[in-house]
Amino acid sequence: MITLSNEILENILTRTSVRRFSPEPVPEGDIDAILRAAMSAPTGVNRRPWFFYVVEDKDVLASLAGVLPYAKMAKDAPLAILVCGDSSRFLEGDDSTLWVQDVSAASENILLAAHALGLGGVWTCLYPHQDRMDAVRKLLDIPSALVPFNLIPIGYPAAPQKPMDKYSPDRIKRI
Ligand SMILES: Cc1cc2nc3c(=O)[nH]c(=O)nc-3n(C[C@H](O)[C@H](O)[C@H](O)COP(=O)(O)O)c2cc1C
Repeated sequence: MITLSNEILENILTRTSVRRFSPEPVPEGDIDAILRAAMSAPTGVNRRPWFFYVVEDKDVLASLAGVLPYAKMAKDAPLAILVCGDSSRFLEGDDSTLWVQDVSAASENILLAAHALGLGGVWTCLYPHQDRMDAVRKLLDIPSALVPFNLIPIGYPAAPQKPMDKYSPDRIKRI
């Protein structure tokens, strides 16, 4: 792992998925900052085709963990953000699936903002698994125009995280 003096780059390089959380609540100002970071992501034609549910209700978090086999950690997280695509803002034709890239950029911003604030989170996959999307839609009574994309449980890490060095020079060709 290289040492960087730039704290933004360091934040990117030291982010890890966090799946175990301390019970400490996430300050309201941090939730706001995370959502602002999400909505600062770039989007095709500046459509911003997203909608975010912030789930803090313990029973709802437990129910989400109950229906999502790969998001069991949501049960013990102080909050989770459900990232949705808003189909009323999707582009058309060849660009009709660009929204996936848009909400993915927002999701990465959520993870990076959480990490910058001393929190941690993990991207858990809903889209394109229809069964998971349907289960979450039913549970939260999500309108048909919204597409549940992923669920990101967030909280203070229960233990220190060790970042992985994923840099692979062999995946780069310079021309
Ligand atoms: C599209 C996508 C789907 C993922 N789905 C899940 C998931 O359902 N459950 C989970 O625990 N982690 C999930 N992850 C997290 C990855 O397992 C994790 O990012 C990867 O192992 C690399 O670890 P890191 O995030 O600590 O760098 C997902 C990540 C991405 C980008």
